[in-house]
Amino acid sequence: MSLINVGDIQLAYADTGVGLPVVLLHGYPFNRSMWNEQVSALSNSFRVITPDLRGLGESEAASGPATMNRMAQDVAMLLDHLEIPRAVIGGLSMGGYVAIAFYKLFPSRVRALVLADTRAQADTEEGKQTRHQQAEKALAEGMAGIADGMLAKLLTPDTVSKRPELVRRVRDMMLKTKPEGAAGALLGMAERDNNTPLLSQISCPTLILVGHDDSITPVQDSEKMHREIAGSRLVVLENAAHVSNLERTEQFNEELLRFLNDSAS
Ligand code: MLT
Repeated sequence: MSLINVGDIQLAYADTGVGLPVVLLHGYPFNRSMWNEQVSALSNSFRVITPDLRGLGESEAASGPATMNRMAQDVAMLLDHLEIPRAVIGGLSMGGYVAIAFYKLFPSRVRALVLADTRAQADTEEGKQTRHQQAEKALAEGMAGIADGMLAKLLTPDTVSKRPELVRRVRDMMLKTKPEGAAGALLGMAERDNNTPLLSQISCPTLILVGHDDSITPVQDSEKMHREIAGSRLVVLENAAHVSNLERTEQFNEELLRFLNDSAS
């Protein structure tokens, strides 16, 4: 693990392998370890950079909302530090919101996009209110209630009943999250822009992946992005919910590698 100063906080990241740089941005309330299997699969042929987004994992939290634009700027500073002008930018869920924000802010730095279990639209008013309540809950009670409330949406019922080690891993990742970091991310997600109008301007190769049973960012959201982003490829992963990279690791990695080899190199 390495650290860089991005102005107000220290950002933690890992930089593994050599080749075309591929940045993978984790979801909420997770950390870069959710990409361990992708780092292993890709790093023989690619340089894989996995930051802990601000406030999460081993990165420090700042006070106030950790906006998607700010997280995208952190990624840009990390790439500057690593002397990488252009990279493939991929993200799952909140990581996807940050990847889209990165494209909006720095389009010429994006070699290709990977958008997994994510969406372009902003939260509804009701969704924003729920984020604020969850942020207060995290700060007042810690992460256990949030983790237990989210688990059933993150994984399919089949995974929950048959893969206890994966359930434990996902739950532990959430329990390790700092409440102030979770609160910052929630408030940041609540403030995020509606980036739907940007989709038709995306001109780089784009891979869209989604779990068939994802109820947080449903398949329809990915279909919409696929319709709007010219030339994009959409893959729906069966028997997967929201953290499709963990539930269908083999197929997720196969699709990612095929995309990187075909479109992005
Ligand atoms: C995530 O997995 O990053 C979050 O569930 C996304 C969200 O709550 O919108």
